[in-house]
Amino acid sequence: MSGIVIAIDGPAGTGKSTVAREVARRLGLAYFDTGATYRVATLACLREGVDFAATSDVAAMVATMNVSLMLNPANPHVELDGEDVSALIRTDTVALSVSKVATNLEARPILQDLQRDVIATERVGGYSSGAGVCAEGRDVTTVIAPEAEVRVLLTADEEVRVARRAGEGADAATVREAVLGRDKADSAVVSFHEAADGVVTIDTTDLTIDEAVQAVIELAQAQQQ
Ligand code: DC
Repeated sequence: MSGIVIAIDGPAGTGKSTVAREVARRLGLAYFDTGATYRVATLACLREGVDFAATSDVAAMVATMNVSLMLNPANPHVELDGEDVSALIRTDTVALSVSKVATNLEARPILQDLQRDVIATERVGGYSSGAGVCAEGRDVTTVIAPEAEVRVLLTADEEVRVARRAGEGADAATVREAVLGRDKADSAVVSFHEAADGVVTIDTTDLTIDEAVQAVIELAQAQQQ
């Protein structure tokens, strides 16, 4: 028996993280936020004073950093050198630099391999004891786990995405730049605004979180029949 892989991609503000985490919780799967690997790599570089323009130095840091990912959807967290850095990787300092790591074509494949390893482990054991994993990001449906049983692209109108993030704090202009600016930078290396073949698009513009979660769970149930 091999566990299920549910892959969810999409831009910021679509509800992707909340939906993926809740799907994992309800189905007893591991929850894997692939963006966290880019964020923790960014924090590692900032701490060690690695120049983001020195692409090989960034890749060397990424290859050697000591990261642990905890995939319990009730309490997901990330450790760097044994320290829980889950809150630190969400700070503006990290958010402002993370695209530099995500678009580094030497560092990116190293993190992609790490992500594939995590998913392979969860299919047969790991946190989920082989039940499987709900993994979210930008290229999980296309590059990391194109073989996933369920592949979903979450979308939402731009204004709704900005408004959702604004609701989490910060002023509107900063949020607009953070959401749209980062999407633009990230789009340079990965396509996540249109669904690839076999990927189901769920537009969350008019959906509650619960409705989006239900939609993903129905796809998973249909797949397992
Ligand atoms: O989803 P997030 O905001 O935590 O993602 C952090 C950064 O990593 C963001 O710039 C997009 C990038 N990313 C990526 O390029 N590929 C992924 N699979 C996940 C995230």
